[in-house]
Amino acid sequence: MKSSNLAPIKVGLLGIGTVGGGVFKVLNRNQEEILRRGGRGIEITMVADLDTARAQALVGPHVQVVSDARAVISNPEIDIVVELIGGYGIARQLVMQAIDAGKHVVTANKALLAVHGTEIFAAAHRKGVMVAFEAAVAGGIPIIKALREGLTANRIDWIAGIINGTTNFILSEMRDKGLDFDVVLKEAQRLGYAEADPTFDIEGVDAAHKATLMASIAFGIPVQFDKAYVEGITQLDAQDIKYAEQLGYRIKLLGIAKRAAGGIELRVHPSLIPGKRLIANVEGAMNAVMVQGDAVGTTLYYGKGAGSEPTASAVIADLVDITRLHTADAAQRVPHLAFQPDAMSDAPVLPISEVVTSYYLRLKVADEAGVLARVTGLLANAGISIDAVLQREADEVGGEGATQTDLIILTHECVEARMNAAMAQIQALPSVLAPITRIRKEELA
Ligand code: HSE
Repeated sequence: MKSSNLAPIKVGLLGIGTVGGGVFKVLNRNQEEILRRGGRGIEITMVADLDTARAQALVGPHVQVVSDARAVISNPEIDIVVELIGGYGIARQLVMQAIDAGKHVVTANKALLAVHGTEIFAAAHRKGVMVAFEAAVAGGIPIIKALREGLTANRIDWIAGIINGTTNFILSEMRDKGLDFDVVLKEAQRLGYAEADPTFDIEGVDAAHKATLMASIAFGIPVQFDKAYVEGITQLDAQDIKYAEQLGYRIKLLGIAKRAAGGIELRVHPSLIPGKRLIANVEGAMNAVMVQGDAVGTTLYYGKGAGSEPTASAVIADLVDITRLHTADAAQRVPHLAFQPDAMSDAPVLPISEVVTSYYLRLKVADEAGVLARVTGLLANAGISIDAVLQREADEVGGEGATQTDLIILTHECVEARMNAAMAQIQALPSVLAPITRIRKEELA
């Protein structure tokens, strides 16, 4: 094997937990293969972690371990800083300081980039350094690379992804076992799939961070997490999963970024998707992203969205990219957000009321003459076309002699504001006995 004459590029890790440990391990295990690809060795020479004893035991005596991350950033020998601390607080300061010190940055921090990306990428552009973030979206799946480079010929129409493993695990269990959300969440926590504080996952925030980043590189718009519509899975009822299945659909938490007539849709919410789509069969904690481009058609990317070595795989891919491009003219590198900074689009992110999609509605109604006609009449008056109706026999829902029943309606596409208005009228009918359940539906055709 030919080896490069150049000394290895020097890397400092900020945080050596699950992902940092994986980076260290995989870099060592595959160092020859990585050298053959990158043309230059990649060496972690310094690690900052609050638990210095644990960190030192992990990396051995030849790597310098410090407790203060600023010591890594100010070390002139370090070329690349890998930020694996997470969150928006100290991580933001450290990333900005690293850029200011002229270091390239690799980060898995989706929250930081989705919220403060504009400031961070602008600073990196001014300094001529790279900020790479493959690990921030869908862990080991190289979706950033695919969107930013592999699909660069395309006008991207939409992206729809299962980009949170915790919620996909919970939904898979709810469907498989017919269990309620709360029961499965506790089980997921016991098995270590869900964090002790699972809020960001189950409320859709983590998926929205990732969808925000994908929307930016797909459409060349600034990162705008504050404009994303975010709805998690906490209100999902096991019976809707069952009804969806009877109609040929599965319910998944999707992150969607879509080019629309008046701007960009950026939304995370539970969605019915046809059971026959490959992505509908992505189960457990796995992730998958569909991308529709005008030239390539529909593409699908599948893999592990979290975990030590899958995430390390993405971090190291960024390290190899930076190693190759380190000495290149900054203007020749792939732009952070795929589009040249002076060619970004100001297409607005649309409010949810302007999104166009189709719907699943579940109504608990009095089992009496004319109810179905009144409900469908209100939808017809609003210009909303019905795709399918499922009415359970009253005794299936409420037992023998029941006086109420479930009415499930699938609609064709309409703008959300129109659906909101129609739902308010339907809700006001005396025969509608409980709040209407509404779940959006995507055909992903
Ligand atoms: N908690 C995330 C998930 C992984 O469950 O997919 C990190 O974003």
